[in-house]
Amino acid sequence: MFEHLKEQPADKILALMESFKADPRSDKIDLGVGVYKNAEGITPVMRAVKAAERQIWEQQDTKAYTGLAGDPAFADAMIALVLGGAVARGQVSAVATPGGTGAVRQAFELIRMVNPGARVFVSDPTWPNHLTILAYLGIEAVPYRYFDSATGGVDFDGMMADLAGLRPGDVVLLHGCCHNPTGANLTLPEWQAVIARLNGAGAVPMVDIAYQGFGDGLDADAAAVRLVARSVPECLIAASCSKNFGIYRERTGLLMAVAQDPGLGKVTQGNLAFLNRQNYSFPPDHGARVVSTILGDDALRADWMAELEEVRLSMLGLREQLAETLQRLSGSNRFGFIAQHRGMFSRLGCSPDQVETLRRDHGIYMVGDSRMNIAGLNSATVPLLAQAIVESGI
Ligand code: LMR
Repeated sequence: MFEHLKEQPADKILALMESFKADPRSDKIDLGVGVYKNAEGITPVMRAVKAAERQIWEQQDTKAYTGLAGDPAFADAMIALVLGGAVARGQVSAVATPGGTGAVRQAFELIRMVNPGARVFVSDPTWPNHLTILAYLGIEAVPYRYFDSATGGVDFDGMMADLAGLRPGDVVLLHGCCHNPTGANLTLPEWQAVIARLNGAGAVPMVDIAYQGFGDGLDADAAAVRLVARSVPECLIAASCSKNFGIYRERTGLLMAVAQDPGLGKVTQGNLAFLNRQNYSFPPDHGARVVSTILGDDALRADWMAELEEVRLSMLGLREQLAETLQRLSGSNRFGFIAQHRGMFSRLGCSPDQVETLRRDHGIYMVGDSRMNIAGLNSATVPLLAQAIVESGI
C-alpha cells in the first residue's frame, strides 16, 4: 500500500525551520517558528517549570493512567486561568489534549461529529495549520476578511461584512489574543459587535487562545474569551500552554466547551472524553501536571507570572525599538503598526519576493507571508533587520 502514498506538501513554518538550520551563515536571524527566545537566542525552561518538575519527580509515586479527560486538577486550574470565573465551573466541559493543536483538532472533530455539513469561518489570514486540519477532516473553511495590509490593523468593516453571511450552525474561529500570523487584534467593543453578529445568526464561536500573557498581560489577554464565554449560548475554546509556560515539546493543551445550560455538560463531557479515547486514548500528563503544580502553589505561581511578564515586556520593548528604528531609517511612520501589534508575531506586509530577498541577501528568515517572530530578535539584531527592510525597498 505504501506505493500509493503521495508526497505531502511541506508545512511552511516547519520547512522554514529546516532551511534556517541548514544555512551556514553565522549572522543569520530566525524570525520563523513561533517559539520564544531570550536575548541570547535560547528558549529557556522557565524557573517555575523546573521547580515544579523537581517537585513532581520527588513526589510522584505512580505513572498509572489518569482519566480520559486528563487530570481534573489541570482542567480546574486552566479553566480558572483562562475564564477567570466568567462562567460557573459547572458550565464548562473540558479535556486535556496534546498541545493547543490537539485542542483545535478535537474541537473540529466535535463540530464534524455534531454536524458533518458545518462550515468553519476562519480569519484571512489564519494559522496555516487551522486550514490544513480543516481540509484533512473534510470540513469547509470559509475565509472572512481580517487584516488590512495598508494600515497593518484589522479590516473590521470587511470582517463584519463577511460575517453577515453566517448561517445557523456555522462556527467562527477567532484568535483570543495575539493574532497569529498578523499580530493585529480586535478591540473589546469590536469583540462585542462580533458576538452580537454571531448570536444574531445562531453561529457558534470557537476561540483559539495560544498566547495568553504574551500581549497585554494574563487577564487582559483573556478579556475577549471571557466576554465570549458569558455572552453566547455555547462556545468552544482551545487553549495552549506551550508558549506561556514554555513547555512546547510537552504537548499541553485544554479543550473547553462552555454552555449556558449546565444540563448539557454531562453529555458534552462524555463526548469530549470519547474523542480523546478514539484519537489517542489518554492525553499526555507531564506538562499538564507541571501547569497544575505551578498554578496551585502561590510561590511557584508568582514566580511564573513574574517570568512571563519579563518575556512579555521584552517582546514589547523589541516592538518599540523596531518601530522607532524603522521610522528613523525610512523617514516615515508606515511601520508604526509594529508597536501596536501584540504577541509574538507581526505581519510586515511585504511581498513573498521581498521576503525571499531578506533571506537571500541578509540571512533573515520570516514566513513567506511576511510574518515575523518578534521574539527572534534582540536589541543588537533589531537595527540589522530595520536596515535590511529599508535596503530591500519594503
Ligand atoms: C507557529 O505558528 O509558528 C507556532 O504555532 C508553531 C507551529 O506549530 O506552527
